[in-house]
Amino acid sequence: MQPLLAVRELHKSYHDGEIRAEVLKGISFTVNAGEFVAIQGPSGAGKSTLLNLLGALDKPDSGTIEVDGRTITSAITEQEIDLFRRDKVGFVFQNHYLLQEFTVLENVMLPLRVQGIPKEQAMAAAAEILNRVGLGHRLQHLPSQISGGESQRAAFARAVVKKPALILADEPTGNLDSENRAKFIEVLSALQEQDQLTVIVVTHEQELAQAASRRLHLRDGQLG
Ligand SMILES: Nc1ncnc2c1ncn2[C@@H]1O[C@H](COP(=O)(O)OP(=O)(O)OP(=O)(O)O)[C@@H](O)[C@H]1O
Ligand SMILES: [Mg+2]
Repeated sequence: MQPLLAVRELHKSYHDGEIRAEVLKGISFTVNAGEFVAIQGPSGAGKSTLLNLLGALDKPDSGTIEVDGRTITSAITEQEIDLFRRDKVGFVFQNHYLLQEFTVLENVMLPLRVQGIPKEQAMAAAAEILNRVGLGHRLQHLPSQISGGESQRAAFARAVVKKPALILADEPTGNLDSENRAKFIEVLSALQEQDQLTVIVVTHEQELAQAASRRLHLRDGQLG
């Protein structure tokens, strides 16, 4: 079976004046469709750097990333990047970044509207996913009117509503208290299992890492 994600010999450095720091030193790994992978490692190891490359928020120096038949290299064009991000990946960050002037429902409809999906259809799909993450009673609320835990579940709904090939989450429970963390993990695990979502999550938290089906460790620029 072809893996959903294939990463080959990925290198990434940052330059700070004269100093060049190599953060990723030839990372290779694959993830199959339907897997839930946790990436752990010390602060500064390059976990966010790796996730940003996987989601084409940044370009590698060298190496390739293949997601569901689409390839990212250092030579990828801006237009290809836009389409890749629109069609292939859903992002969840530590800070949920819901758009404050839109309702919860409108926030979750947005990725579908960007894909050109008609309003009624987008609304139905967004309402359905919001119900499944336990926010059926918050559709018309503004982000400022819901709790941090609810916001994070809304952001998760927004990331998965377009059914992306790959869901990427960077410390998604980092800002949550233990109750909301447990709720988030429960919702994520249930959806991942039911819909066979392919999820890569970067986390410091054992609780979340334990929910994954596989754990990888990033250290000294290498993944093991
Ligand atoms: N835009 C940037 N410019 C220069 N250096 C950067 C940049 N982004 C990250 N770095 C450096 O690259 C290294 C890896 O950073 P990264 O954010 O990927 O770590 P991380 O593993 O996600 O850490 P944390 O667990 O603290 O979030 C760090 O030393 C960081 O200072
Ligand atoms: Mg990070």
